[in-house]
Amino acid sequence: MTIVEGQGAVVTGGGGGIGRALARRLADAGARVAVNDLDPAAAVTVAGEIGGYAVPGDAGTAEGVRDLIAAARGHLGEIDIYCSNAGTAAGTGPDTPEADWQRAWEVNVLAHVRASRELLPVWLERGAGRFVVTASAAGLLTMLGAAPYSVTKHAAVAYAEWLAATYGRRGLTVHCVCPQGVRTSMLAGSGRAGEVVLLDTAIEPEQVADAVWYGMNEGSFLILPHSEVRDYYALRATDTDKWLRGMGRLQQRIEESGLHHHGHDHVKREVCGEGVAGTSARRAPGRAHARRGSRP
Ligand SMILES: NC(=O)c1ccc[n+]([C@@H]2O[C@H](COP(=O)([O-])OP(=O)(O)OC[C@H]3O[C@@H](n4cnc5c(N)ncnc54)[C@H](O)[C@@H]3O)[C@@H](O)[C@H]2O)c1
Repeated sequence: MTIVEGQGAVVTGGGGGIGRALARRLADAGARVAVNDLDPAAAVTVAGEIGGYAVPGDAGTAEGVRDLIAAARGHLGEIDIYCSNAGTAAGTGPDTPEADWQRAWEVNVLAHVRASRELLPVWLERGAGRFVVTASAAGLLTMLGAAPYSVTKHAAVAYAEWLAATYGRRGLTVHCVCPQGVRTSMLAGSGRAGEVVLLDTAIEPEQVADAVWYGMNEGSFLILPHSEVRDYYALRATDTDKWLRGMGRLQQRIEESGLHHHGHDHVKREVCGEGVAGTSARRAPGRAHARRGSRP
């Protein structure tokens, strides 16, 4: 008997990448899963694989979230677990078009707000509910080359914290998942910054699902599939100027990266400084099997 046996779960963006791995993990653990995706065929395929329900639609609009939750309740009875996972990485710097900034806000932040608006009345009434936000290490640190992503993922973390702080005593369990690189189509499209900063330490979506499953069983708010993120996050809080100087050097590396390739140890040195934050040899448990250096 697992902690999710028989429970009703929704996964947004469940047709691929991290969402698909989460949907499979939850189904394996005995949950009944509604698989949402913008791509209807992807939602149908994953739902078919796991004996779940496909609920295609856009998790980045108010209407899309309302319809998704109504349809999922139709299939599942009540929703016990909601994985607000869909995200968009569109945009670069301040010149990113207004429409893309707005879309990032809607998909990466308001999707969580809107889903919780629908779910909280029932969850608080019965004193139980589990809300899983797929944010990003960019929400604790920053993603070079991607201002809309960094800003909205910070907001996603902030909203998850707010929910946990406000309703944790009333039965709401919140998990905030903050991976660095994960081998999905999003990483494949992340350009030079993704290549330089993320690729060497990228993990598989299944390793994120393993970390989420572990965090669910432990009751952890912050789920860090890359353990070194905790050290970077600590450095950012305790010596922000030093952390920013390291990020600036990393930005320089990215700009020079047409010429050279810089690997993981280099990133760690730039972000944390040699030995400063105790990052030496610690690795997330699932990292041992991560492939290095190739695209998905
Ligand atoms: N891949 C990474 O390196 C990485 C790292 C940290 C966090 N994340 C976060 O993980 C989440 C999942 O990303 P991924 O890497 O699995 O991406 P992905 O592109 O591989 O898969 C995302 C899935 O979500 C669907 N989708 C996109 N927008 C949607 C929407 N508005 N409504 C419903 N479905 C939608 C896509 O069709 C796709 O099937 C995102 O929130 C992303 O920001 C990814």
